[in-house]
Amino acid sequence: MHSPPHESAAKHVSGEAVYIDDIRADEQLLVGRVVYSPHAHAQIKSFDLSEAKKILGVHAVLCHKDIPGHNQMGPVVKDELCLAESELICVGQAMFVIAAETEDQCLEAERRIKVEYDLLEPILTIEKALERNSLLGPPRTMKRGDPDATIKSAPHVIKGELRTGAQEHWYLETQVCLCVPGEGKEINVYSSTQHPSETQTLIAELLGIGKNEVVVEVRRMGGAFGGKETQGNHTACWAALLCWHTKRPVKIRLFRDDDQKITGKRHRFLSHYEVGFDNEGRILAAKYQLNSDGGCATDLSFAIMERAMLHADNAYYAPNMEVVGRVCKTNLPSNTAFRGFGGPQGMAVAETVVDRIARHLKKDSAEIRRKNFYGLDSNNVTHYGEAVENNHLFIIYDQLVKSSDYWQRRNEINEFNAANEFYKKGLALTPVKFGISFTTTFLNQAGALVNVYKDGTILVNHGGTEMGQGLHTKMQQVAAAEFGVSLGRVKVNATNTSKIPNTSATAASAGTDLNGMAVKNAVDTLKSRIAETMSQVFTEKHPNPPTNKQDIAFQNDMIFDLMHPERKIAFADAMPLMQLRQVSLSATGYYKTPGIGWDKEKGWGRPFHYYAFGMCVSEVVVDVLTGRHTNLRTDILHDAGDSLNPLIDLGQVEGGYVQGVGWCTTEEIKWDDKGNLMTHSPDTYKIPSVQDIPKDFRVALLENVPNPNTIRRSKAVAEPPLMLALSTWLAMKDAVSAVANHEIEPEFSLPATNEVIVLSVEGLKKQMSGRDVEVLIKKE
Ligand code: MTE
Ligand code: MOS
Repeated sequence: MHSPPHESAAKHVSGEAVYIDDIRADEQLLVGRVVYSPHAHAQIKSFDLSEAKKILGVHAVLCHKDIPGHNQMGPVVKDELCLAESELICVGQAMFVIAAETEDQCLEAERRIKVEYDLLEPILTIEKALERNSLLGPPRTMKRGDPDATIKSAPHVIKGELRTGAQEHWYLETQVCLCVPGEGKEINVYSSTQHPSETQTLIAELLGIGKNEVVVEVRRMGGAFGGKETQGNHTACWAALLCWHTKRPVKIRLFRDDDQKITGKRHRFLSHYEVGFDNEGRILAAKYQLNSDGGCATDLSFAIMERAMLHADNAYYAPNMEVVGRVCKTNLPSNTAFRGFGGPQGMAVAETVVDRIARHLKKDSAEIRRKNFYGLDSNNVTHYGEAVENNHLFIIYDQLVKSSDYWQRRNEINEFNAANEFYKKGLALTPVKFGISFTTTFLNQAGALVNVYKDGTILVNHGGTEMGQGLHTKMQQVAAAEFGVSLGRVKVNATNTSKIPNTSATAASAGTDLNGMAVKNAVDTLKSRIAETMSQVFTEKHPNPPTNKQDIAFQNDMIFDLMHPERKIAFADAMPLMQLRQVSLSATGYYKTPGIGWDKEKGWGRPFHYYAFGMCVSEVVVDVLTGRHTNLRTDILHDAGDSLNPLIDLGQVEGGYVQGVGWCTTEEIKWDDKGNLMTHSPDTYKIPSVQDIPKDFRVALLENVPNPNTIRRSKAVAEPPLMLALSTWLAMKDAVSAVANHEIEPEFSLPATNEVIVLSVEGLKKQMSGRDVEVLIKKE
């Protein structure tokens, strides 16, 4: 398939692409601001808004009592207030909202608000939450076989704990929403949200009005990465409340620092593992305990923990396996979706385990990985009962090991390390197997509405949102390909809840799978109607033999009879005929993923439509004195099925990997002992920059792997590549391990910041000197 550029690429570059902050609003527009809790845990004793309301230009200063409907914005569990009532449960929790003519007036009003607090003790770590049994819900378990007994009798056992850090989304466009009042109760909402239908629902409930009064529209987001799956709703609810009270358009756009302080992040995890394996390095049994920091409210934390548990195997078969997941409740902003959605946290444990098995047996970890891959015909059922079908692990492994010169480079790196004391190189190969579908099965549905106009132009509406991933481009391609017309004929509309109702979030990498099929379904309906009429038109002219409806083809912007190709008409010329003959040129489409089903209680079934596969070989060099590392080379081979748009997919693979490198290496989030975020701007929080892109970066899509039962045999791409970055993380560990000539295992956590590396190296050195002493004593 060829790769047309992203439908907005030129507009992105020229600055013409309209983001919410670019929408031209009239002189009535007010600026909104949210005032949030400065304390992680406190009781509001009293508050006084009267002085704030007196500021010239201020039109509203609102508290929870001003909410006409439900004071709630919890997406699944109703445990998130829109505005605080009495107890404050994190720094960043919204207390009041202000609308004024200027930003400065908002800030002045904020300074005049008086609040008295009683401070309470906060819970700020997973350890403390576990100690106090502060959980957001009961623990969950997935289990197969008898891991306890198997571990007892296993030839080798390793045990340990792994910390993986939080991650800030750092979308370029911070949370933003513009609300414009309509007639009566109508409200038009322009929100940067991955989930317009949920934004609509929450605003309707907040204002106590019908959803048919609320229209949410999303042209595009300036990045989302999961951070706007639920938490775009918050800014939208605050703006809607201010719009409702002032009867004027109101826009809230969070300052970067506020955005970082008050929105949720990737869940940090504290995980424990115990694994039994044989002399060959084959896993016999695995026991995992995953503990996440959910923050102060539920948000999507249980779905995220579920996905972590479903990916604690990554690509490896463990005949006996138990995973227990706990979601801790702490006094930090509620953590949320982030590309991979728990998958990275689960896989980091699996990859640590396999890496440690290899180090324990003094074997190369790539070899141990291959040994543990899910099999093609046997050993191919996961710990939750789904068979790994169309398994591409072995093809990818063989191709990538070869194309990356893995074994030769392993030797070269050993030589380099033997010759260098202060620089050490490391190499690692890691696989990704990622399940595609929402694990909440009913969410796997989508709708579309396709209009063809009399001039032969086509307007596609679908329920998915565009956040830079190229979904609209792919939908444009699908509609054009199915109609057999050129791409220029098709435009994709802004996502709008009045066009497609009751949609799911654009998430779980399933945007193209779901909406693509819905668009195709609508196009099929239209083609069937058009074919019916065209066969009549052709037959009227040439009755002998008549044209059959089934023989009508759509190709090259033409409609013709396959059996009598001279009976033809240009697509655009046929459309006025349709109107004359009273044929509807507007159709809805719908799709739900077939064949999946998952018993959450039992933890057993088929949650995923299929798996995405990829593999990555990374090489790094580490300066063992400073902990600084450089990404020297990364080779990726990723499975995107029959890619709908190889260039967009390569962009997703590269971007996902680099975003993962950030999580694995430099992005460190710290809170102080009062629950204040200390890393709330780019000067204290280090996202990847050009310097972090591997010096030699070779990315390819696996060829000749059509994916059955998906739109045009394509495969979801979006999230899985993020986890390929675990190879960079383990290459860093490999480099550190070379300090002790791979004889002692380094302590390692994620992200592997300079500090972690230096401490890890120091730890090795201490053990080495300890050993030297031991050896000396023995000699004496
Ligand atoms: N790519 C860009 N450029 N910007 C984004 O915000 N979000 C990621 C991924 N790729 C994101 C992105 C996440 S978290 C998901 S789930 C998918 O895109 C969503 O889009 P899709 O399902 O259409 O692939
Ligand atoms: Mo993506 S984390 O599923 O929005």
